[in-house]
Parts: sequence; structure tokens; C-alpha cells
Amino acid sequence: MELKFNWEANREKIDKLNEFIENNRHKDGVLMLVLQEVQELFGYIPYEIAKLISKELKIPLAEIFGVATFYSQFSLHPKGENVIGVCLGTACYVKGGQEILKKIEELLGITVGQTTPDGRFSIDATRCLGSCGLAPVMMINGQIHGRLTADRVEEIIEQYR
Ligand code: FES
Repeated sequence: MELKFNWEANREKIDKLNEFIENNRHKDGVLMLVLQEVQELFGYIPYEIAKLISKELKIPLAEIFGVATFYSQFSLHPKGENVIGVCLGTACYVKGGQEILKKIEELLGITVGQTTPDGRFSIDATRCLGSCGLAPVMMINGQIHGRLTADRVEEIIEQYR
């Protein structure tokens, strides 16, 4: 479920984006630069903004979505208030990171890359978070939670509900 894009509420960000496009339109790799700026400004790539970029840079919409879906740094949906990153780096993977991820998906009723309909949670799979000694690990809003078990995961998520 996605709310309608609010042009008025986003006016300032759109102005900044237009200025950015103006200053960068002749650079090589301008699409990547612009998408990075959009991701930073909005936290995701709204469909309406992708259309605006398409018109401004004269790049087909399909190409923009091709790039946006290829690189994991871009998201096509708004993130939840609580962003859960489950580490699937080698150490965490070996220690059952995949089962932790499955448990979280079950608890929230969404899969990786999705946001709950109430906008409270989203789940990402991440690379090594630099806390391999605590594997398996997840990060919620920048805070690391380690030595996870399915039961602990449930308790921790409850704290954010
Ligand atoms: S592999 Fe998960 S923290 Fe390093």
C-alpha cells in the first residue's frame, strides 16, 4: 500500500532536485548521480519523481527503473519507521542468519525489501555489519542486536511495536 505522492509537501525537495539536475545534466553517469540524490532526499525513488527525471533527462522510464532495481542502494518504496537490516554476511550466514530473516518475515508478514502496510517496519538484507563476533546479527535503526535466536528476535521486535 502506498500513499499518493504529495507534490506540495515535497516542494522543497523537488526544487533541490531540479537544481541538482540542472547542475549535473551534462556529466557522465548523470542518471546514477540523480538517482543517488533522489534516494537521499526522499529515502526512496518515488514513481512520480522517476517520471520527472525521465522527462528532464530524456531517458526512458524503463531504463530508470532498470538502474533503480539493479542497485541495492536504491529503494522503490518508502522505508518503514523502523528499518531492520538482517546481516547475511558469511559469519552470520553460517550461524543461521537466513533463519533469523525468515523468522522476522513471518513475524511482520512481509519479505525482504518490503514495508508493512502500517509503515512501521521494513526489512533489508545487508552485507557484513562489522560485528561478526556477535553473529547472527541484525541492525534496527542503526543499533546492532547480536547473538540472535528466533525467540530473541521476537522479543526485540516487540520492543519496537
Ligand atoms: S557477517 Fe554479519 S556482522 Fe559480519
